[in-house]
Amino acid sequence: MSRIAYVNGAYVPHNEAAVHIEDRGYQFSDGVYEVCFVANGLLLDEEGHLDRLDRSLAELRIAAPLTRKALRLVMREMIRRNRVVNGLVYLQATRGVARRNHAFPTATAPSLVLTARNAPALWRDGKAEKGVGVITVPDERWKRPYIKSVSLLPNVLAKQAAVDAGAGEAWFVDAEGFITEGSSTNAWIVSADGVLITRPAESDILKGITRTAILEIAAAEGYEVVERPFSPEEVRVAREAFMSAATAMVTPIVSIDGESIANGAPGRFTLKLRELYKKHSLNVALRLENAF
Ligand code: PDD
Repeated sequence: MSRIAYVNGAYVPHNEAAVHIEDRGYQFSDGVYEVCFVANGLLLDEEGHLDRLDRSLAELRIAAPLTRKALRLVMREMIRRNRVVNGLVYLQATRGVARRNHAFPTATAPSLVLTARNAPALWRDGKAEKGVGVITVPDERWKRPYIKSVSLLPNVLAKQAAVDAGAGEAWFVDAEGFITEGSSTNAWIVSADGVLITRPAESDILKGITRTAILEIAAAEGYEVVERPFSPEEVRVAREAFMSAATAMVTPIVSIDGESIANGAPGRFTLKLRELYKKHSLNVALRLENAF
């Protein structure tokens, strides 16, 4: 089966899909994106992702390329045409195509591109059963990482540094010595006394949609949660650590800079949260789908 992409109103074969060389996303990273997980053919946390897309577009003063209703239809059509069961939908909106000039163009329509693919391993628990290692790197990003912009060069370099070190993720450390977040995930620990800790979603991190769902689940389950910054030293003495993202759900972190966390195995609480997240997000998605 050939993959299909969506480019500015048309469904086209994936390997022929293209945007103009003067798209501002290509020339200036002048665009935003979202990644949604699809489980059993259902979009997880769809509302959260689309709300955040609206916020990102508004921050950059890019017009919405489609209404929410139309966008939801296109996402479903992409799932259908690509026969996605468990996988990902990627969508990217840019300020559009215009002659190169830093200032915003006038009368230019935004561009919209979507891709979708199966990624069954992400839904399975293989990686979660082993966990992944993280390395720490200085947070050299701009001061507005709360916008889900396609400008990801520091994130790309950080992830490659992790790969080069044989790790699965890089956690950024700010000038005060606290972890902000991962290159494409939010960061969490469970302290020695069993408290779930994650950095508050202020301007210095992306407010992960998976993160928000985990906080809701933790509250519903009566877990003790504190939103505060934590340091790499605290991770070393933590009982458990994990990362969250649409592409990771809840994935255990078992080492930091080559040092094992606790006994070096995924934490029980982390695995429980993963299971709860999967169940909760599927239930919400099913309710939303039935109401669509
Ligand atoms: N990344 N922090 C950063 C820097 C991210 O890029 C992401 C997501 C997250 C987690 O957000 P969410 O739970 O909404 O996926 C946190 C996506 C998956 C990516 O770039 O591929």
